[in-house]
Amino acid sequence: MMAILAVATVGTATVGVAQVAPPTPSTPANTAHPDRWPALRSPVRPDPAMERKIDQLIARMSVEQKVGQVVQGDIASITPDDVRRYHLGSVFNGGNSDPGGRYNAPAKDWLALADAFWDASTSDDPKLPRIPAIWGIDAVHGHSNIVGATLFPHNVGLAAMRDPELMRRIGAATAVEMRVTGIDWTFAPTIAVVRDDRWGRTYEGFGETPAIAASYAGPLIEGLQGRIGDRDWLKGPHVIATAKHFLGDGGTRNGRDQGDAQIGEDQLRDLFAPPYEAAINAGVQSIMVSFSSWNGRKMTGNDSLLTGVVKRRWGFDGFLVGDWNAHGQVEGCSTTDCPQAINAGLDIYMAPDSWKGIWQSTLREVQSGAIPMARLDDAVRRVLRVKFRAGIFEAGRPSSRPFAGRYDMLGSPEHRAIARQAVAESLVLLKNAGGLLPLKPGARILVAGDGADDVAKQSGGWTLSWQGTGTKPADFPGATTIWQGIDAAVRAAGGTATHAADGAFSARPDAAIVVFGENPYAEFQGDRSDVAFDDPATTDNLATMKRLRAAGVPVVAVFLSGRPLWVNPYLNAADAFVAAWLPGSEGAGVADALFGARPFRGTLPYSWPKRSDQSPLNVGDAGYDPLFAYGFGLKTGQPGELPRLDERRADGGGDRNTLFARGKATGGRRLLIGAPGQLAANPSPERISQRPADRRAQEDSVRLAWTGAGEATAALVGAPVDLTREANGDVALIIELRVDAGPAAPVTLDGVAVTPRLAALANAKTWGEIAVPLRCLAKTDLGKVTAPFALTTAGTLDVTISAIRFGSPGEGLVDCR
Ligand code: BGC
Ligand code: BGC
Repeated sequence: MMAILAVATVGTATVGVAQVAPPTPSTPANTAHPDRWPALRSPVRPDPAMERKIDQLIARMSVEQKVGQVVQGDIASITPDDVRRYHLGSVFNGGNSDPGGRYNAPAKDWLALADAFWDASTSDDPKLPRIPAIWGIDAVHGHSNIVGATLFPHNVGLAAMRDPELMRRIGAATAVEMRVTGIDWTFAPTIAVVRDDRWGRTYEGFGETPAIAASYAGPLIEGLQGRIGDRDWLKGPHVIATAKHFLGDGGTRNGRDQGDAQIGEDQLRDLFAPPYEAAINAGVQSIMVSFSSWNGRKMTGNDSLLTGVVKRRWGFDGFLVGDWNAHGQVEGCSTTDCPQAINAGLDIYMAPDSWKGIWQSTLREVQSGAIPMARLDDAVRRVLRVKFRAGIFEAGRPSSRPFAGRYDMLGSPEHRAIARQAVAESLVLLKNAGGLLPLKPGARILVAGDGADDVAKQSGGWTLSWQGTGTKPADFPGATTIWQGIDAAVRAAGGTATHAADGAFSARPDAAIVVFGENPYAEFQGDRSDVAFDDPATTDNLATMKRLRAAGVPVVAVFLSGRPLWVNPYLNAADAFVAAWLPGSEGAGVADALFGARPFRGTLPYSWPKRSDQSPLNVGDAGYDPLFAYGFGLKTGQPGELPRLDERRADGGGDRNTLFARGKATGGRRLLIGAPGQLAANPSPERISQRPADRRAQEDSVRLAWTGAGEATAALVGAPVDLTREANGDVALIIELRVDAGPAAPVTLDGVAVTPRLAALANAKTWGEIAVPLRCLAKTDLGKVTAPFALTTAGTLDVTISAIRFGSPGEGLVDCR
C-alpha cells in the first residue's frame, strides 16, 4: 500500500510564494573563474558624449524613476497609467498576453497599445527627465504573436538550412514586421546549444554543437539590429535583439526545462559560451539570463557569471534582462523581493505580475543600502545606453516611426518569399528509396495525414499563443498549408492532387504524401521522458502509410517536429522520408523541394536517434551511434535506401506531462481507489469502484463511482516526481471528464475544492475539463509527489475520465488566487 500525499490546503497567493527549490549555496563547483574565460573586446564601444548625457540624466532622476527602469511588467498585468506612476522603463508581453487579452488582436491594436505605453512613459512627472519606455516581445520565428505576420521556420529548421545569408534576411524581415506594430525589442534569438532533445525547447535552438549555434547567432542578430556603425543600427527598420538564455539552458540534466546543468566550468564555457561570444561580437544589446541552474545554483543569482564573465571579462555594456519571474527562484528570493539578482548583475527584472512588489522592495532596499546605489546606477546606465543607441529618445511615438502602421508589410510577398525559400532549404531528406523524390508534378498525387492542411501544426509553439495551441485557420490570413502548396504546384504542371486526411482514394494515385508529426508545444509542455514519436493524431497515420504501400502506392512521409524523434516504424513504412521541422506559414516551400523546383540541401543540426531511449545523443559522444549522424542529409539525386529498422520501442518513455490516456495510467503509475489510507486497485466496492468506459474508442476512459458510504479517493500513485517546474507559472493539472451523478458532498482535487465546477459539468451533461493550477497546491514537498492526481469525496459521485495531464488551462479553470 502506498501512502497518499498529504492533502493540500488551498494556496493563498501566488506572487511571493513561488519559493520551492531548497536553497543551494554557492560552491567552487558553481562559481566561475572569469580569468579562465576568453577575454572579448566588443566592437561596440561606449561613446564618451553619450556617456556624458547619461551621467546628466542619471543625476536628474529620482530614485523611484531609477527603480522603474530596472523593472518590467507584462501587458496583461500592467496599464499605461501604472507605467506612468511607477516610471517603468519597459513593458513586455508573454506568450499568452495580447492587447485586450485577445490572442488574435489585430495589428493595429498592438500599435495603439505601444503608443499608449509610450505616451504614459513620456507624460511622467514634468520635473523629472523624460525617458520613453520600450516594449519587448518574443518575435522568435517572425513576429509570431501577430495575426498576418510572416511565420518563418523555427530555429531548428533554419539551422538545418545552413544558410547564414538567408538568416540575416530573415532577421531583417522580422524586424520590419515588428516595427509595423511599434515594438522595438525582441527576446530572440535563442542561442542555446541543446544537448538533450527531450527538452521541449529543442526547436528554439540551432543545434547540438557550439559551432552551429555560434555560426547563426551573428547573422541573425545583424539582421535584426542592423550592422554596428551603420546609421540605422537598432533604428529605422531594425530592433533591439536579445541573446538567450544565459547560460547552459540546453545543458540541463535529462533535458528538464528550467533544470540544472551538472557540469564542470570548462564544459560550461566550451559548450555554451561560443554563441554568446558571437552574439556580443555582432553587437547584441540585451542578454536574457536563464531560468536554469548550474550545479544547483540559479543563473539569475550567479554574480560570477553575470558580472564576472559577461560584464567584466566580455566587456558587454548592454543590459541583462531576467526571465519570467526567474528571480523568484533564486536562493532566498521571492518573485516580489530579490536584491540578490540585481546585486549579482541582473539589470532588468522580468516581473510579469509581480512588477509592483519588486518595484517596492527594490526601492526599499536601495534606500536601506541592501542594493548599493552604484549598482542601481549601473543598471540604469545600461538601460539608458541601449535606449540612446536605439534612438528611443528622439524617435517619437511608436506610430510615428518608420514602417509603423504599414500593415501591407506584415506578411508581405517579399517576406513570404524569404520564408518559403527557407522552408525549402530547411528540409532534410532522410530516406529516398528508388530515387522517388523529386516527384513529377504532372502526376496524380494524393495528400494525406493530419498535418497536411493545418497552419498551426506546421508552425509549432510561440505562434499567436504561448504553446501555439487554441488557434483556428482564420487566424492565419495569407498563410499556405503544405497541402495548398502541393495542390498549386501539381495543378500548375497539369497534374491532379487530392486531399484526404485518412488517405482514402478512388482512383489510384501515382504517389502519396503523408504529412504528420508533433502537435504544437512550447516551454516545459514539450518536455518528454524519451525521444519516441507518439502520434497525437486521431487518424492513424502509420496505418494510412501501410495501407497505401500495400495498395502499391509509393509513400512520401513529411514529418513535422521540433526535434529528431525515434520514428523507425514510419521510416520503414515510407519510401521517402523528409524531416520538415516546423516550417511556419509558407507551406508551399515543402512542395518546392518535393517536386524539384528547389534542391534538397538541408542537413541535420541534431543527431537522429536509432533507439527511443537514446537521449542525450550528441556528435562527439563516446560510443556515438545515431541512426542519422549530425550533418546528415541526402542531396537531390543521391541514392537513399535504408535497411529495415528495428521497430521495438524501449520501455519507460513518453510524454512526461501525460498522467492518464487511452484508458491507462502512464509513467509507471497506477490508478488506486479506496477509503483514506487503504488505496488499492480493486478494493471491495463499498465506497468506490472503477471500471473501463468508452469515450472516443473502446475502453479509452475510466468510470469512477463513489457510493456515498464514506470518504473515498481515486488517485494516480507511483514513484515520487518533482513538480516544482509545473508549479512555477500557469501549468495546471487538467482532467477531461463527464459527470453523470453528483456531486452530493464537497469534492477536492489534490486538496483544492472543485465542487462547483463538477456541479456545472453535471448540469451541462457534456464532456468538459477541470483545471487546477499547480501553484495552488500548497503541498509539503512539491519536489517529491507520489500522487499527482487525487480526487476525494464522501458523497455520491459518478464521473468518467478520459484524460489527465499537465498543461495550459483552457476552460474549467479552478483558481486559487
Ligand atoms: C511564458 C510566457 C507565458 C506564461 C504563461 C511563461 O513561462 O514565458 O510567455 O505567457 O508563462 O503563464
Ligand atoms: C521564456 C523566455 C521568454 C519569456 C517571455 C519565458 O518563460 O523562457 O524565452 O522570452 O518567457 O515570454
